[in-house]
Amino acid sequence: MENSLFSAYSNVTSLEHRKKFGQFFTPKAIAKFMIDWLLIDRSDSCLDPAFGLGVFAEELDASNYNFASFKTYELDSHIFDFSKNYFGEKITIHNKDYLLNWDNPKFDSIICNPPYMKFQNFQSKEEVIEVFEENLGIRLSGYTNTASAFLLKSIEELKDGGKLAYIMPFEFMNAGYGQIVKEFLLEQGTINALIKIDCEKDTFSEVVTSVGIIFFTKQNKSTHDIPFYVITSLSQLTKLDDLTPIRSVSRNDIKPKDKWAKHFELNQITINSKWLCQLNYYGSFSRGIATGANEYFSANQTKAKKFKLPEGALIPCITKSNQLKTSIFSSEKLEKLILSDATIYLVNLEENSDCPAIKSYIKLGEEREVHKRYLTKMRSPWYKLEKRKPAELLFGVFSRDGYKVVRNFTNSINLTCYHGFNTNMFGAKYLDLLFFYFLSGAGKKILTINMRKYGDGLDKFEPNDLNNSFVPSSGWFDSLKEVDIAYEYSQIRKNGKISEKLNCVFDSLLH
Ligand SMILES: C[S@@+](CC[C@H](N)C(=O)[O-])C[C@H]1O[C@@H](n2cnc3c(N)ncnc32)[C@H](O)[C@@H]1O
Repeated sequence: MENSLFSAYSNVTSLEHRKKFGQFFTPKAIAKFMIDWLLIDRSDSCLDPAFGLGVFAEELDASNYNFASFKTYELDSHIFDFSKNYFGEKITIHNKDYLLNWDNPKFDSIICNPPYMKFQNFQSKEEVIEVFEENLGIRLSGYTNTASAFLLKSIEELKDGGKLAYIMPFEFMNAGYGQIVKEFLLEQGTINALIKIDCEKDTFSEVVTSVGIIFFTKQNKSTHDIPFYVITSLSQLTKLDDLTPIRSVSRNDIKPKDKWAKHFELNQITINSKWLCQLNYYGSFSRGIATGANEYFSANQTKAKKFKLPEGALIPCITKSNQLKTSIFSSEKLEKLILSDATIYLVNLEENSDCPAIKSYIKLGEEREVHKRYLTKMRSPWYKLEKRKPAELLFGVFSRDGYKVVRNFTNSINLTCYHGFNTNMFGAKYLDLLFFYFLSGAGKKILTINMRKYGDGLDKFEPNDLNNSFVPSSGWFDSLKEVDIAYEYSQIRKNGKISEKLNCVFDSLLH
Protein backbone atom coordinates (compact mmCIF):
# COMPACT_ATOMS: atom_id res chain seq x y z
CA MET A 1 0.00 0.00 0.00
CA GLU A 2 2.80 2.35 1.00
CA ASN A 3 4.60 1.78 -2.27
CA SER A 4 1.57 2.30 -4.43
CA LEU A 5 0.81 5.56 -2.60
CA PHE A 6 4.39 6.65 -3.10
CA SER A 7 4.37 5.77 -6.82
CA ALA A 8 1.05 7.54 -7.32
CA TYR A 9 2.48 10.60 -5.58
CA SER A 10 5.80 10.62 -7.46
CA ASN A 11 3.94 10.25 -10.76
CA VAL A 12 2.27 13.60 -10.24
CA THR A 13 5.07 15.39 -8.40
CA SER A 14 8.36 16.67 -9.72
CA LEU A 15 11.59 15.89 -7.92
CA GLU A 16 12.10 19.64 -7.72
CA HIS A 17 8.88 20.02 -5.74
CA ARG A 18 9.84 17.18 -3.42
CA LYS A 19 13.25 18.71 -2.82
CA LYS A 20 11.71 22.12 -2.15
CA PHE A 21 9.77 20.64 0.79
CA GLY A 22 12.46 18.15 1.84
CA GLN A 23 10.24 15.17 1.00
CA PHE A 24 12.20 11.97 1.55
CA PHE A 25 10.05 9.08 2.63
CA THR A 26 10.72 6.64 5.42
CA PRO A 27 11.02 2.95 4.50
CA LYS A 28 8.45 0.77 6.23
CA ALA A 29 11.11 -1.21 8.12
CA ILE A 30 12.44 1.94 9.77
CA ALA A 31 8.96 3.26 10.57
CA LYS A 32 8.07 -0.05 12.25
CA PHE A 33 11.32 -0.14 14.22
CA MET A 34 10.74 3.41 15.50
CA ILE A 35 7.15 2.72 16.45
CA ASP A 36 8.07 -0.48 18.25
CA TRP A 37 10.49 1.42 20.45
CA LEU A 38 8.24 4.39 20.98
CA LEU A 39 5.13 2.56 21.90
CA ILE A 40 6.38 0.04 24.39
CA ASP A 41 4.22 1.78 26.99
CA ARG A 42 1.31 2.59 24.70
CA SER A 43 1.18 6.34 24.80
CA ASP A 44 -1.99 8.26 24.80
CA SER A 45 -1.00 11.33 22.78
CA CYS A 46 1.26 11.32 19.76
CA LEU A 47 2.59 13.85 17.27
CA ASP A 48 3.94 13.48 13.73
CA PRO A 49 4.99 17.01 12.76
CA ALA A 50 5.98 16.20 9.14
CA PHE A 51 3.23 13.91 7.87
CA GLY A 52 4.08 13.51 4.19
CA LEU A 53 2.36 10.36 2.95
CA GLY A 54 1.72 9.22 6.50
CA VAL A 55 4.02 6.21 6.78
CA PHE A 56 3.94 6.40 10.58
CA ALA A 57 0.14 6.67 10.69
CA GLU A 58 -0.03 3.66 8.43
CA GLU A 59 2.32 1.62 10.63
CA LEU A 60 0.50 2.65 13.80
CA ASP A 61 -2.68 1.47 12.21
CA ALA A 62 -1.09 -1.80 11.18
CA SER A 63 0.15 -2.31 14.77
CA ASN A 64 -3.36 -1.66 16.12
CA TYR A 65 -2.37 1.17 18.37
CA ASN A 66 -5.15 3.43 19.50
CA PHE A 67 -4.33 6.90 20.58
CA ALA A 68 -6.35 9.31 22.59
CA SER A 69 -4.99 11.84 20.13
CA PHE A 70 -2.77 11.82 17.08
CA LYS A 71 -1.75 15.26 15.88
CA THR A 72 -0.06 15.83 12.55
CA TYR A 73 1.28 18.69 10.47
CA GLU A 74 2.03 18.99 6.79
CA LEU A 75 3.09 22.28 5.21
CA ASP A 76 2.85 21.38 1.52
CA SER A 77 -0.77 21.66 0.27
CA HIS A 78 -0.04 19.36 -2.64
CA ILE A 79 1.00 16.36 -0.55
CA PHE A 80 -1.55 17.35 2.08
CA ASP A 81 -4.40 16.97 -0.49
CA PHE A 82 -2.97 13.69 -1.56
CA SER A 83 -2.80 12.24 1.96
CA LYS A 84 -6.15 13.72 2.98
CA ASN A 85 -7.76 11.91 0.09
CA TYR A 86 -6.09 8.71 1.09
CA PHE A 87 -6.69 8.74 4.85
CA GLY A 88 -10.10 10.46 4.76
CA GLU A 89 -11.64 11.18 8.18
CA LYS A 90 -9.34 8.71 9.94
CA ILE A 91 -6.66 11.29 10.61
CA THR A 92 -6.73 15.05 10.95
CA ILE A 93 -3.79 16.61 9.20
CA HIS A 94 -3.08 20.26 9.86
CA ASN A 95 -2.00 21.95 6.67
CA LYS A 96 0.32 24.28 8.60
CA ASP A 97 3.95 25.07 9.19
CA TYR A 98 5.02 23.09 12.26
CA LEU A 99 7.88 25.45 13.01
CA LEU A 100 5.56 28.46 13.31
CA ASN A 101 2.81 26.86 15.43
CA TRP A 102 3.53 27.09 19.11
CA ASP A 103 0.10 26.56 20.65
CA ASN A 104 0.69 22.87 21.16
CA PRO A 105 -0.11 20.80 24.14
CA LYS A 106 2.65 18.47 25.31
CA PHE A 107 2.86 14.96 23.89
CA ASP A 108 3.64 11.52 25.28
CA SER A 109 5.39 10.54 22.10
CA ILE A 110 6.66 12.22 18.99
CA ILE A 111 7.67 10.41 15.83
CA CYS A 112 9.13 12.21 12.87
CA ASN A 113 11.16 12.16 9.69
CA PRO A 114 11.62 15.93 9.40
CA PRO A 115 12.12 17.75 6.10
CA TYR A 116 15.77 18.11 5.32
CA MET A 117 16.79 21.37 3.76
CA LYS A 118 19.35 24.01 4.45
CA PHE A 119 17.96 26.84 6.50
CA GLN A 120 19.37 29.36 3.99
CA ASN A 121 16.85 28.01 1.45
CA PHE A 122 13.95 28.06 3.85
CA GLN A 123 11.39 30.76 3.09
CA SER A 124 10.16 31.70 6.56
CA LYS A 125 13.65 31.52 8.07
CA GLU A 126 13.57 34.98 9.74
CA GLU A 127 10.18 34.33 11.28
CA VAL A 128 11.26 30.92 12.54
CA ILE A 129 14.41 32.34 14.12
CA GLU A 130 12.26 34.89 15.91
CA VAL A 131 9.67 32.45 17.30
CA PHE A 132 12.37 30.05 18.41
CA GLU A 133 14.05 32.80 20.34
CA GLU A 134 10.73 33.81 21.90
CA ASN A 135 9.59 30.31 22.81
CA LEU A 136 12.79 28.39 23.46
CA GLY A 137 15.25 31.13 24.26
CA ILE A 138 17.45 29.63 21.54
CA ARG A 139 18.96 31.71 18.77
CA LEU A 140 19.20 29.43 15.72
CA SER A 141 22.23 29.84 13.50
CA GLY A 142 21.59 30.77 9.87
CA TYR A 143 23.53 27.61 8.98
CA THR A 144 21.22 25.25 10.80
CA ASN A 145 18.83 23.05 8.84
CA THR A 146 15.11 22.51 9.14
CA ALA A 147 15.57 19.02 10.61
CA SER A 148 17.50 20.42 13.59
CA ALA A 149 14.85 23.09 14.15
CA PHE A 150 12.14 20.38 14.09
CA LEU A 151 14.06 18.29 16.63
CA LEU A 152 14.56 21.18 19.04
CA LYS A 153 10.89 22.10 18.92
CA SER A 154 9.76 18.51 19.39
CA ILE A 155 12.00 18.01 22.44
CA GLU A 156 10.37 21.09 23.90
CA GLU A 157 6.91 19.66 23.19
CA LEU A 158 7.49 16.35 24.96
CA LYS A 159 5.87 15.70 28.33
CA ASP A 160 8.22 14.74 31.15
CA GLY A 161 8.93 11.06 30.59
CA GLY A 162 7.71 11.40 27.00
CA LYS A 163 9.58 9.61 24.20
CA LEU A 164 10.77 10.79 20.85
CA ALA A 165 11.91 8.84 17.79
CA TYR A 166 13.40 10.96 15.03
CA ILE A 167 15.13 10.32 11.75
CA MET A 168 17.91 12.88 11.40
CA PRO A 169 20.61 13.89 8.99
CA PHE A 170 23.60 13.29 11.26
CA GLU A 171 25.72 16.15 9.96
CA PHE A 172 24.68 18.11 13.08
CA MET A 173 26.98 15.84 15.08
CA ASN A 174 30.07 17.54 13.69
CA ALA A 175 28.77 20.86 12.36
CA GLY A 176 29.13 24.12 14.29
CA TYR A 177 25.36 24.79 14.26
CA GLY A 178 24.84 21.35 15.82
CA GLN A 179 26.27 22.40 19.16
CA ILE A 180 22.93 23.86 20.24
CA VAL A 181 21.12 20.66 19.25
CA LYS A 182 23.56 18.48 21.18
CA GLU A 183 23.33 20.80 24.17
CA PHE A 184 19.54 20.56 24.15
CA LEU A 185 19.55 16.77 23.84
CA LEU A 186 21.98 16.46 26.75
CA GLU A 187 20.19 18.96 28.96
CA GLN A 188 16.64 17.83 28.41
CA GLY A 189 16.80 14.10 28.94
CA THR A 190 18.32 10.77 28.01
CA ILE A 191 19.60 9.90 24.58
CA ASN A 192 18.52 6.25 24.43
CA ALA A 193 20.16 5.52 21.08
CA LEU A 194 21.94 7.16 18.19
CA ILE A 195 21.74 4.76 15.24
CA LYS A 196 23.68 5.53 12.09
CA ILE A 197 22.15 3.99 9.00
CA ASP A 198 25.16 3.00 6.92
CA CYS A 199 23.05 1.62 4.10
CA GLU A 200 21.65 5.12 3.64
CA LYS A 201 22.46 5.25 -0.07
CA ASP A 202 19.76 2.65 -0.64
CA THR A 203 17.56 3.92 2.12
CA PHE A 204 17.48 7.63 1.47
CA SER A 205 19.03 7.63 -1.98
CA GLU A 206 18.30 11.30 -2.58
CA VAL A 207 19.80 12.54 0.67
CA VAL A 208 23.48 13.41 0.40
CA THR A 209 24.37 13.24 4.05
CA SER A 210 24.62 10.51 6.61
CA VAL A 211 21.29 9.69 8.15
CA GLY A 212 20.34 8.07 11.40
CA ILE A 213 17.73 7.54 14.09
CA ILE A 214 17.56 9.21 17.49
CA PHE A 215 15.67 7.71 20.40
CA PHE A 216 15.23 10.13 23.26
CA THR A 217 13.33 10.31 26.56
CA LYS A 218 12.61 13.60 28.26
CA GLN A 219 13.64 13.59 31.91
CA ASN A 220 15.53 15.57 34.46
CA LYS A 221 19.26 15.27 34.97
CA SER A 222 20.10 12.21 32.96
CA THR A 223 23.36 10.45 33.77
CA HIS A 224 22.95 7.58 31.30
CA ASP A 225 25.75 6.62 28.94
CA ILE A 226 25.02 7.38 25.31
CA PRO A 227 25.01 4.32 23.04
CA PHE A 228 26.15 4.71 19.41
CA TYR A 229 24.98 2.09 16.92
CA VAL A 230 25.71 1.48 13.25
CA ILE A 231 23.50 -0.64 11.05
CA THR A 232 24.55 -1.73 7.59
CA SER A 233 21.30 -3.33 6.51
CA LEU A 234 17.68 -2.53 7.25
CA SER A 235 17.12 -6.17 8.11
CA GLN A 236 19.10 -5.51 11.32
CA LEU A 237 16.30 -3.24 12.52
CA THR A 238 14.20 -5.61 14.56
CA LYS A 239 14.26 -4.40 18.15
CA LEU A 240 16.64 -1.95 19.77
CA ASP A 241 17.50 -4.56 22.42
CA ASP A 242 18.74 -6.89 19.67
CA LEU A 243 21.36 -4.37 18.52
CA THR A 244 24.80 -4.01 20.08
CA PRO A 245 26.20 -0.51 20.29
CA ILE A 246 29.58 0.13 18.67
CA ARG A 247 30.37 2.13 21.77
CA SER A 248 28.67 3.70 24.78
CA VAL A 249 30.09 7.04 25.76
CA SER A 250 29.85 8.13 29.37
CA ARG A 251 27.62 11.15 29.87
CA ASN A 252 30.53 12.91 31.59
CA ASP A 253 32.85 12.39 28.64
CA ILE A 254 30.62 13.86 25.99
CA LYS A 255 30.32 17.59 25.42
CA PRO A 256 28.07 19.57 23.06
CA LYS A 257 31.07 21.18 21.42
CA ASP A 258 32.74 17.82 20.64
CA LYS A 259 32.38 16.25 17.22
CA TRP A 260 30.24 13.20 17.89
CA ALA A 261 30.46 11.43 14.50
CA LYS A 262 33.74 9.77 15.50
CA HIS A 263 31.87 7.64 18.04
CA PHE A 264 30.38 5.66 15.15
CA GLU A 265 33.85 4.61 14.01
CA LEU A 266 34.97 1.20 15.09
CA ASN A 267 38.67 1.97 15.16
CA GLN A 268 38.41 5.33 16.67
CA ILE A 269 41.47 7.50 16.37
CA THR A 270 41.81 11.13 17.15
CA ILE A 271 44.72 12.84 15.54
CA ASN A 272 46.57 15.97 16.42
CA SER A 273 46.08 17.55 13.03
CA LYS A 274 48.14 20.64 13.64
CA TRP A 275 51.28 18.48 13.36
CA LEU A 276 50.21 16.56 10.29
CA CYS A 277 50.26 17.15 6.56
CA GLN A 278 49.54 14.97 3.56
CA LEU A 279 52.21 12.66 2.27
CA ASN A 280 52.12 14.23 -1.20
CA TYR A 281 54.02 17.18 0.25
CA TYR A 282 57.09 14.93 0.45
CA GLY A 283 56.71 12.90 -2.75
CA SER A 284 54.34 10.43 -4.27
CA PHE A 285 53.40 6.82 -4.56
CA SER A 286 52.73 5.24 -7.90
CA ARG A 287 51.55 1.78 -8.70
CA GLY A 288 54.09 -0.79 -9.79
CA ILE A 289 54.65 -1.85 -13.39
CA ALA A 290 51.75 -3.69 -15.01
CA THR A 291 53.25 -5.90 -17.70
CA GLY A 292 50.09 -7.60 -18.92
CA ALA A 293 51.95 -10.94 -18.94
CA ASN A 294 54.17 -11.32 -15.88
CA GLU A 295 55.23 -14.90 -16.61
CA TYR A 296 56.58 -13.78 -20.01
CA PHE A 297 58.24 -10.49 -19.06
CA SER A 298 59.83 -11.70 -15.82
CA ALA A 299 62.67 -14.14 -15.41
CA ASN A 300 64.89 -16.01 -13.01
CA GLN A 301 68.47 -17.09 -13.68
CA THR A 302 67.46 -20.47 -15.10
CA LYS A 303 65.13 -18.87 -17.61
CA ALA A 304 67.72 -16.22 -18.52
CA LYS A 305 70.23 -18.99 -19.26
CA LYS A 306 67.73 -21.09 -21.18
CA PHE A 307 66.88 -18.23 -23.56
CA LYS A 308 70.40 -16.79 -23.49
CA LEU A 309 68.99 -13.44 -22.34
CA PRO A 310 71.93 -11.04 -22.00
CA GLU A 311 72.71 -9.74 -18.53
CA GLY A 312 72.20 -6.15 -19.67
CA ALA A 313 68.56 -6.91 -20.48
CA LEU A 314 67.81 -8.16 -16.96
CA ILE A 315 66.52 -5.49 -14.59
CA PRO A 316 66.19 -6.44 -10.94
CA CYS A 317 62.49 -6.33 -10.18
CA ILE A 318 60.30 -7.44 -7.29
CA THR A 319 57.68 -9.53 -9.00
CA LYS A 320 55.88 -11.08 -6.05
CA SER A 321 54.78 -9.68 -2.72
CA ASN A 322 56.32 -12.52 -0.69
CA GLN A 323 59.83 -11.87 -2.07
CA LEU A 324 60.14 -9.17 0.60
CA LYS A 325 59.88 -10.68 4.03
CA THR A 326 61.25 -7.85 6.17
CA SER A 327 61.12 -4.06 6.26
CA ILE A 328 64.56 -3.51 4.77
CA PHE A 329 65.47 -4.67 1.28
CA SER A 330 69.23 -4.57 0.94
CA SER A 331 71.61 -5.52 -1.89
CA GLU A 332 72.54 -8.65 0.09
CA LYS A 333 68.91 -9.75 0.16
CA LEU A 334 68.57 -9.08 -3.54
CA GLU A 335 71.72 -11.14 -4.17
CA LYS A 336 70.28 -14.01 -2.13
CA LEU A 337 67.07 -13.94 -4.15
CA ILE A 338 69.05 -14.03 -7.39
CA LEU A 339 71.12 -16.98 -6.18
CA SER A 340 68.04 -18.86 -5.00
CA ASP A 341 66.70 -18.60 -8.56
CA ALA A 342 63.77 -16.38 -7.58
CA THR A 343 61.93 -14.66 -10.42
CA ILE A 344 63.53 -11.34 -9.64
CA TYR A 345 64.19 -9.87 -13.10
CA LEU A 346 62.18 -7.99 -15.62
CA VAL A 347 63.39 -8.49 -19.19
CA ASN A 348 63.98 -5.22 -20.99
CA LEU A 349 63.12 -6.28 -24.51
CA GLU A 350 62.60 -2.86 -26.03
CA GLU A 351 66.10 -1.53 -25.48
CA ASN A 352 67.75 -4.79 -26.50
CA SER A 353 65.64 -5.70 -29.47
CA ASP A 354 68.70 -5.84 -31.75
CA CYS A 355 70.23 -8.68 -29.79
CA PRO A 356 69.59 -12.06 -31.54
CA ALA A 357 68.56 -13.85 -28.33
CA ILE A 358 66.08 -11.10 -27.49
CA LYS A 359 64.78 -11.14 -31.07
CA SER A 360 63.95 -14.81 -30.76
CA TYR A 361 62.41 -14.24 -27.32
CA ILE A 362 60.14 -11.57 -28.83
CA LYS A 363 59.24 -14.04 -31.60
CA LEU A 364 58.43 -16.64 -28.97
CA GLY A 365 56.14 -14.07 -27.28
CA GLU A 366 54.29 -13.60 -30.56
CA GLU A 367 53.97 -17.33 -31.09
CA ARG A 368 52.44 -17.54 -27.62
CA GLU A 369 50.18 -14.60 -28.52
CA VAL A 370 51.46 -12.45 -25.67
CA HIS A 371 51.17 -9.47 -28.03
CA LYS A 372 47.41 -9.98 -28.21
CA ARG A 373 46.80 -9.58 -24.49
CA TYR A 374 44.72 -6.70 -23.14
CA LEU A 375 47.63 -4.47 -22.10
CA THR A 376 50.26 -5.53 -24.62
CA LYS A 377 48.06 -4.97 -27.65
CA MET A 378 47.64 -1.33 -26.64
CA ARG A 379 51.40 -0.71 -26.61
CA SER A 380 53.76 0.01 -29.45
CA PRO A 381 55.82 -2.04 -29.74
CA TRP A 382 53.75 -4.51 -27.76
CA TYR A 383 56.75 -5.41 -25.51
CA LYS A 384 57.39 -1.83 -24.46
CA LEU A 385 57.14 -1.59 -20.68
CA GLU A 386 56.23 1.25 -18.32
CA LYS A 387 59.21 3.17 -16.98
CA ARG A 388 59.77 3.40 -13.24
CA LYS A 389 62.65 4.50 -11.07
CA PRO A 390 63.56 2.12 -8.24
CA ALA A 391 61.28 3.20 -5.37
CA GLU A 392 62.72 4.37 -2.08
CA LEU A 393 59.80 2.92 -0.14
CA LEU A 394 57.52 0.06 -1.07
CA PHE A 395 54.02 -0.50 0.23
CA GLY A 396 52.17 -3.81 -0.06
CA VAL A 397 48.95 -3.26 -2.03
CA PHE A 398 46.88 -5.78 -0.08
CA SER A 399 47.35 -6.62 3.54
CA ARG A 400 45.90 -8.44 6.48
CA ASP A 401 46.71 -7.38 10.04
CA GLY A 402 48.35 -4.10 9.07
CA TYR A 403 50.30 -2.97 6.05
CA LYS A 404 53.74 -3.93 4.81
CA VAL A 405 56.24 -1.11 4.28
CA VAL A 406 59.76 -1.74 3.01
CA ARG A 407 62.76 0.57 2.64
CA ASN A 408 64.36 -0.30 -0.68
CA PHE A 409 68.15 0.12 -0.72
CA THR A 410 68.55 -1.73 -4.03
CA ASN A 411 68.13 -0.71 -7.63
CA SER A 412 65.14 -3.04 -8.01
CA ILE A 413 61.99 -1.79 -9.57
CA ASN A 414 58.67 -3.49 -8.79
CA LEU A 415 55.52 -4.93 -10.34
CA THR A 416 52.00 -4.13 -9.14
CA CYS A 417 52.24 -6.17 -5.93
CA TYR A 418 53.78 -3.05 -4.37
CA HIS A 419 53.21 0.67 -4.71
CA GLY A 420 56.49 2.58 -4.87
CA PHE A 421 57.24 5.92 -3.20
CA ASN A 422 59.86 8.42 -4.31
CA THR A 423 60.56 11.67 -2.54
CA ASN A 424 60.55 15.07 -4.22
CA MET A 425 63.03 17.83 -3.44
CA PHE A 426 61.28 18.71 -0.16
CA GLY A 427 60.91 15.13 0.94
CA ALA A 428 64.42 13.80 0.34
CA LYS A 429 65.80 14.80 3.72
CA TYR A 430 62.80 13.35 5.58
CA LEU A 431 62.80 9.93 3.88
CA ASP A 432 64.19 7.95 6.83
CA LEU A 433 61.90 9.70 9.29
CA LEU A 434 58.90 9.02 7.08
CA PHE A 435 59.87 5.37 6.94
CA PHE A 436 60.17 5.24 10.75
CA TYR A 437 56.77 6.93 11.02
CA PHE A 438 55.17 4.28 8.77
CA LEU A 439 56.59 1.62 11.08
CA SER A 440 55.40 3.35 14.25
CA GLY A 441 52.21 2.45 16.13
CA ALA A 442 50.83 5.96 15.59
CA GLY A 443 51.59 5.85 11.85
CA LYS A 444 49.82 2.50 11.50
CA LYS A 445 46.74 3.86 13.27
CA ILE A 446 46.63 7.10 11.31
CA LEU A 447 47.10 5.38 7.96
CA THR A 448 44.14 3.08 8.54
CA ILE A 449 41.92 6.16 8.10
CA ASN A 450 42.59 5.93 4.37
CA MET A 451 42.53 2.18 4.05
CA ARG A 452 39.83 0.55 1.97
CA LYS A 453 38.18 -2.37 3.70
CA TYR A 454 37.37 -5.43 1.70
CA GLY A 455 35.44 -8.35 3.10
CA ASP A 456 37.16 -10.99 5.16
CA GLY A 457 39.73 -8.73 6.86
CA LEU A 458 41.49 -7.79 3.65
CA ASP A 459 42.68 -4.19 3.41
CA LYS A 460 43.83 -2.34 0.34
CA PHE A 461 45.56 0.92 -0.45
CA GLU A 462 45.46 2.69 -3.79
CA PRO A 463 48.45 4.98 -4.50
CA ASN A 464 46.29 8.05 -3.96
CA ASP A 465 45.00 6.79 -0.62
CA LEU A 466 48.63 6.78 0.42
CA ASN A 467 49.45 10.12 -1.19
CA ASN A 468 46.58 11.72 0.72
CA SER A 469 47.38 10.00 3.99
CA PHE A 470 48.44 11.98 7.02
CA VAL A 471 52.09 12.08 8.00
CA PRO A 472 54.04 14.40 10.33
CA SER A 473 54.63 17.88 8.95
CA SER A 474 58.19 19.02 8.24
CA GLY A 475 57.76 21.43 11.20
CA TRP A 476 57.08 18.49 13.49
CA PHE A 477 60.02 16.50 12.12
CA ASP A 478 62.27 19.56 12.48
CA SER A 479 61.20 19.99 16.10
CA LEU A 480 62.35 16.46 16.99
CA LYS A 481 65.44 16.16 19.09
CA GLU A 482 68.21 14.42 17.17
CA VAL A 483 67.01 10.98 15.99
CA ASP A 484 69.78 8.42 15.78
CA ILE A 485 69.05 7.16 12.27
CA ALA A 486 71.72 4.44 12.24
CA TYR A 487 70.52 3.11 15.61
CA GLU A 488 66.91 2.97 14.42
CA TYR A 489 67.94 1.02 11.31
CA SER A 490 69.87 -1.41 13.50
CA GLN A 491 66.72 -1.88 15.63
CA ILE A 492 64.62 -2.52 12.53
CA ARG A 493 67.14 -5.06 11.24
CA LYS A 494 67.22 -6.78 14.61
CA ASN A 495 63.60 -6.62 15.78
CA GLY A 496 61.62 -5.52 12.73
CA LYS A 497 60.59 -2.41 14.71
CA ILE A 498 61.79 1.09 15.52
CA SER A 499 62.96 1.71 19.09
CA GLU A 500 60.33 2.03 21.81
CA LYS A 501 61.59 5.53 22.53
CA LEU A 502 60.98 6.77 18.99
CA ASN A 503 57.66 4.95 18.88
CA CYS A 504 56.53 6.99 21.91
CA VAL A 505 57.64 10.19 20.22
CA PHE A 506 55.32 9.40 17.30
CA ASP A 507 52.50 8.68 19.77
CA SER A 508 52.26 12.38 20.49
CA LEU A 509 50.63 12.72 17.05
CA LEU A 510 47.58 11.00 18.54
CA HIS A 511 45.50 12.69 21.20
C1 LIG B 1 11.11 13.92 5.10
S1 LIG B 1 9.42 14.07 4.71
C2 LIG B 1 8.78 12.80 5.69
C3 LIG B 1 7.41 12.38 5.33
C4 LIG B 1 6.86 11.22 6.11
N1 LIG B 1 6.63 11.52 7.50
C5 LIG B 1 7.77 10.02 6.01
O1 LIG B 1 8.47 9.74 6.99
O2 LIG B 1 7.80 9.37 4.97
C6 LIG B 1 9.01 15.57 5.53
C7 LIG B 1 7.61 16.11 5.28
O3 LIG B 1 7.48 17.34 5.99
C8 LIG B 1 6.81 18.31 5.18
N2 LIG B 1 7.23 19.66 5.64
C9 LIG B 1 8.23 20.43 5.16
N3 LIG B 1 8.34 21.55 5.88
C10 LIG B 1 7.38 21.49 6.83
C11 LIG B 1 6.99 22.35 7.88
N4 LIG B 1 7.65 23.49 8.10
N5 LIG B 1 5.96 21.98 8.65
C12 LIG B 1 5.30 20.81 8.44
N6 LIG B 1 5.63 19.95 7.47
C13 LIG B 1 6.66 20.28 6.67
C14 LIG B 1 7.24 17.98 3.77
O4 LIG B 1 6.35 18.45 2.82
C15 LIG B 1 7.32 16.45 3.83
O5 LIG B 1 6.12 15.89 3.44
